[in-house]
Amino acid sequence: MKSVLVSGIQPTGKLHIGNYLGALKNFVELQNTGKFRCFFFVADLHSLTEEFDPKEKQKQVENLILDFLAAGIDLKKSVLFVQSAIPAHSELAWILNTITPFGELRRMTQFKEKTGEEYETTNVGLFDYPVLMAADILLYDTKFVPVGDDQLQHLELTRTLARKFNSRFGNAFFEPKPLLTEIPRLMSLDDPTKKMSKSRPEGCLFLDDEPETIRKKIMRAVTDSGSEVRADREKKPAVTNLIRIYSAMSGKSVTQIEERFKGRGYGEFKKELSEIVVRGLAPFQKKKKELRKKRAAIMKRVATGNKKANTIASKKLLEVKKKTGLV
Ligand code: AMP
Ligand code: TRP
Repeated sequence: MKSVLVSGIQPTGKLHIGNYLGALKNFVELQNTGKFRCFFFVADLHSLTEEFDPKEKQKQVENLILDFLAAGIDLKKSVLFVQSAIPAHSELAWILNTITPFGELRRMTQFKEKTGEEYETTNVGLFDYPVLMAADILLYDTKFVPVGDDQLQHLELTRTLARKFNSRFGNAFFEPKPLLTEIPRLMSLDDPTKKMSKSRPEGCLFLDDEPETIRKKIMRAVTDSGSEVRADREKKPAVTNLIRIYSAMSGKSVTQIEERFKGRGYGEFKKELSEIVVRGLAPFQKKKKELRKKRAAIMKRVATGNKKANTIASKKLLEVKKKTGLV
């Protein structure tokens, strides 16, 4: 039996190159090894924890499905589904809530970052977010979860909850392991101390950005003092981040890139980087345009994915209900 691999992305608008290099590209490569039984999903329930317009939600879900497919997720090789279509996710999340210590959730970095000091008005969904994520993962007997490093803490909680449930009620869950990419965290173009995130759109390269926009954003990206194109995370965090993008998009090693730009300045480096990113994203953008025309047929195939996921998840939920004495 192949090991199960599960990952999800929230439909909250456009994906950026950090999502792509930190997660999506990895999903596709892992799928194509043929070594895993892959499940990928649209985490629409998670996305309700951020402000949104109900009229936009379906469009965002469909857009993310097209992103998955344009990046290379293949419905013949992977199951693609929408989280909210599988009731077991919410039900298991509730059961897991009852074994989750309050203090574990309060410590979560993502929660702290997203709420700041606004505890009184923060929605409880944002607090409970990691428990739903644990349910997403544990329902499928998952062994591996490819994510960016911002999600590692949530995955650690998932492991803790699996252990806790198993020891209290009997073995039901595997403890999943993370799979990180070479770039588990891409930094913002306008501030290399912050991770690239759509909450700072000016520092993001979006997968749907027009070539002109990409060029402008890269040429405007902050750099470090000096003029040497050299990777040095301490002294040259901004340039190092750009070199990593260059490397991931071109397949060239960091040393090869440093060699190539020896004696040339940041300007020339950025110009070439712009073209590499524009060219690198072109096939994705072209494919997405074509897929858009087949939207209806694609959504039908996702409905098949939902059915498959539902069968597996319902079975695991029933096992959990039996173990906890609910049935
Ligand atoms: P999200 O948009 O928060 O649902 O994130 C989707 C995936 O992209 C998750 O696996 C994240 O860990 C990953 N990710 C988000 N931001 C970055 C970043 N700046 N660098 C690398 N990976 C990221
Ligand atoms: N929390 C993840 C993120 O923001 C999205 C997500 C939800 C997820 N459920 C998951 C990722 C389960 C992996 C497995 O990126």
